[in-house]
Amino acid sequence: MALFQSSSTSLFLLFHIALLSTLSLAADPTITYDFKLSYITVSPLGVPQKVIAVNGQFPGPLVNGTTNNNVVINVRNDLDENLLMTWPGIQMRRNSWQDGVLGTNCPIPPNWNWTYNFQLKDQIGSFFYYPSLNLQRASGGFGPFVINNREVIQIPFAQPDGDFVLLIGDWYTRNHSALRADLDSGKDLGMPDGVLINGKGPYRYNTTLVPDGLPYETINVDPGKTYRFRVHNVGTSTSLNFRIQGHNLLLVETEGHYTVQQNFSSFDIHVGQSCSFLVTMDQNATSDYYIVASARFVNESLWQKVTGVGIFALFKFKKEVQLVLCLKHQVIFITNDNFIKIFCPLDSQDYSRQNTTASGARPNPQGSFHYGSINVTDTYILRSLPPSTIDGKLRATLNGISFVNPDTPIRLADLNQVKGSYKLDFPSEPLNRPLRRDTSVINATYKGFIEVILQNNDTKMQSFHINGYSFFVVGMDWGIWSENSRGSYNKWDSISRCTIEVYPGGWTAVLASLDNVGIWNLRVENLDRWYLGQETYMKIINPDENGETEFSPPANALFCGALASKQKDLGNKNSAVSILQGNPNLFFTLLMAFCAAVLVFS
Ligand SMILES: *[C@@H]1O[C@H](CO)[C@@H](O)[C@H](O)[C@H]1NC(C)=O
Ligand SMILES: *[C@@H]1O[C@H](CO)[C@@H](O)[C@H](O)[C@H]1NC(C)=O
Ligand SMILES: *[C@@H]1O[C@H](CO)[C@@H](O)[C@H](O)[C@H]1NC(C)=O
Ligand SMILES: *[C@@H]1O[C@H](CO)[C@@H](O)[C@H](O)[C@H]1NC(C)=O
Ligand SMILES: *[C@@H]1O[C@H](CO)[C@@H](O)[C@H](O)[C@H]1NC(C)=O
Ligand SMILES: *[C@@H]1O[C@H](CO)[C@@H](O)[C@H](O)[C@H]1NC(C)=O
Ligand SMILES: *[C@@H]1O[C@H](CO)[C@@H](O)[C@H](O)[C@H]1NC(C)=O
Ligand SMILES: *[C@@H]1O[C@H](CO)[C@@H](O)[C@H](O)[C@H]1NC(C)=O
Ligand SMILES: *[C@@H]1O[C@H](CO)[C@@H](O)[C@H](O)[C@H]1NC(C)=O
Ligand SMILES: *[C@@H]1O[C@H](CO)[C@@H](O)[C@H](O)[C@H]1NC(C)=O
Ligand SMILES: *[C@@H]1O[C@H](CO)[C@@H](O)[C@H](O)[C@H]1NC(C)=O
Repeated sequence: MALFQSSSTSLFLLFHIALLSTLSLAADPTITYDFKLSYITVSPLGVPQKVIAVNGQFPGPLVNGTTNNNVVINVRNDLDENLLMTWPGIQMRRNSWQDGVLGTNCPIPPNWNWTYNFQLKDQIGSFFYYPSLNLQRASGGFGPFVINNREVIQIPFAQPDGDFVLLIGDWYTRNHSALRADLDSGKDLGMPDGVLINGKGPYRYNTTLVPDGLPYETINVDPGKTYRFRVHNVGTSTSLNFRIQGHNLLLVETEGHYTVQQNFSSFDIHVGQSCSFLVTMDQNATSDYYIVASARFVNESLWQKVTGVGIFALFKFKKEVQLVLCLKHQVIFITNDNFIKIFCPLDSQDYSRQNTTASGARPNPQGSFHYGSINVTDTYILRSLPPSTIDGKLRATLNGISFVNPDTPIRLADLNQVKGSYKLDFPSEPLNRPLRRDTSVINATYKGFIEVILQNNDTKMQSFHINGYSFFVVGMDWGIWSENSRGSYNKWDSISRCTIEVYPGGWTAVLASLDNVGIWNLRVENLDRWYLGQETYMKIINPDENGETEFSPPANALFCGALASKQKDLGNKNSAVSILQGNPNLFFTLLMAFCAAVLVFS
């Protein structure tokens, strides 16, 4: 069943007259949601497990907005641990207060609720939301987030006959706390147990690989029609090859920007990425077809079970399905002691082009921002290494630093004269010094035009995301980036998006115009690496701030860390002791001190 259809009935969707809020502009309507995050038990791969549901649904309901809408989402935490919801790709202009990551927000403790309030300023496109803490996304809590264009803006294709969301992702039958325990004890997460499509396991395409009786996703379509599929990789760490047997995928959008339209028989979607395809039902309607999402950039013969299969049902009745999976891209592996090197066409250059004449959220064409003729003000070379041991713990690093979340969110610390909760000294290139754990943030320049080189010296495919921004993907290649690499940049029509893949042993270069004031998270989307510290923040502050380029903290801001004593009892907690009153990191700090002591004395 299409997620759009199944979720719309149970949405708490109300349209309000503008709320009394600093955000609401009188003319822009407000959409309001109530999200209750709790555990439910389901068995997508045949093993009963607790997953994180939103309003009892797994995956969560659709947030369906339109350009410039104000969004109010009251999030209730009925889990047994802290929670923050994040809305990647939503740019939160001037408003990093709503971003929902630990550098910007205090966590919502169990049995509390907190209301997010932000505007979908000048944006369109397909995104998804998820819980940002502690690997929780590996247990669910995710759902689609669509920003429709305003009626006055034309879309660069005929209005599709229907709209479907497919949330695809690798899946473990272990829950997020068990996965966390693996990482904490220095282990790799290992091979996932499968791939889910909209929270459901695979159709039984192979009786050896797939147990009997799993619920699977079915999309009902009519012959001759053209549908829009918004496909998101919501998984933990696996790149997925997506395809619909016998049908062309016409790529039209990636994360809020229209691409040059091009047909693909299959398409790689990396962790955290979102793509829209138009699919025309031009095949023989006497057969059903497979929808497949299978693991990529791994040893695919070993990872066979990491395949999600749904059914594309033409004519809305059940028929025999052909037991043939369509072909994948050709990939060649050379293995050397567990190290897998992949040679494949870096064909992303071909599809990472925007339609420069199409309108995005505004009537002017996407290509009217001539990024290629703007001088770069700062270059950051960010290198990721495979995880290694720092202070006795397995950690992952960017430029040699494994990020430690601040006790007090960065901007809240600034505005309340809390000193020393973070450092502004993140290096602009890898330094030849020992790896370290640190709360080190990039001192970025407001209105700068930056070049970020993501150099993947890890052995796994990665994708990187920057909150608050979308960036132009100008170059991608194997090997080590050098100044000469700039010669190959696409300075004319590269796509602007917010999550980009970086091949192992390769680099990706992006350009961004730093016009959005705030504290913005830059991170790997692969959950294991993120959990192990592969992230930082960009601090972008207007030195002449006069209240116009950055919002003040919201009236309901939560306080924690050095500011915990400022936290008022919201009257919405059930538990006797609030985690916020104490120092949530105290235990960890003590633990680290203990480990350090053991190291010193052993
Ligand atoms: C989402 O909003 C758009 C524009 O208001 C509307 O046309 C569409 O039907 C909505 N979709 C769902 C599933 O509610
Ligand atoms: C997660 O798994 C662990 C280990 O199997 C178990 O102890 C714990 O109760 C589970 N948590 C939830 C919320 O299901
Ligand atoms: C918690 O939810 C209640 C309504 O359910 C609301 O009145 C209150 O403002 C919310 N609290 C916060 C901090 O968002
Ligand atoms: C680009 O967008 C224009 C304007 O909407 C549209 O007419 C054209 O077909 C699109 N071209 C491609 C190649 O996507
Ligand atoms: C099913 O999977 C098994 C194990 O990988 C494989 O040997 C077999 O050929 C597959 N069967 C079909 C019909 O593809
Ligand atoms: C994509 O393929 C469809 C057939 O599935 C065809 O009708 C269409 O013209 C193709 N579009 C492009 C841009 O190649
Ligand atoms: C559709 O498939 C059926 C059964 O395989 C076949 O008899 C028929 O000729 C096919 N029609 C077309 C147009 O290919
Ligand atoms: C993939 O795994 C299979 C089974 O262990 C092994 O035979 C094969 O050599 C591996 N392929 C590569 C390219 O490593
Ligand atoms: C960019 O830099 C070049 C060389 O320093 C300079 O000549 C040019 O005017 C600059 N362009 C802009 C738009 O600032
Ligand atoms: C951050 O950058 C600004 C402007 O480039 C500079 O004035 C300031 O001293 C820097 N701060 C730190 C702590 O380096
Ligand atoms: C990482 O860097 C080292 C040293 O430059 C190089 O030997 C190795 O091949 C690189 N590995 C990857 C995956 O890029």
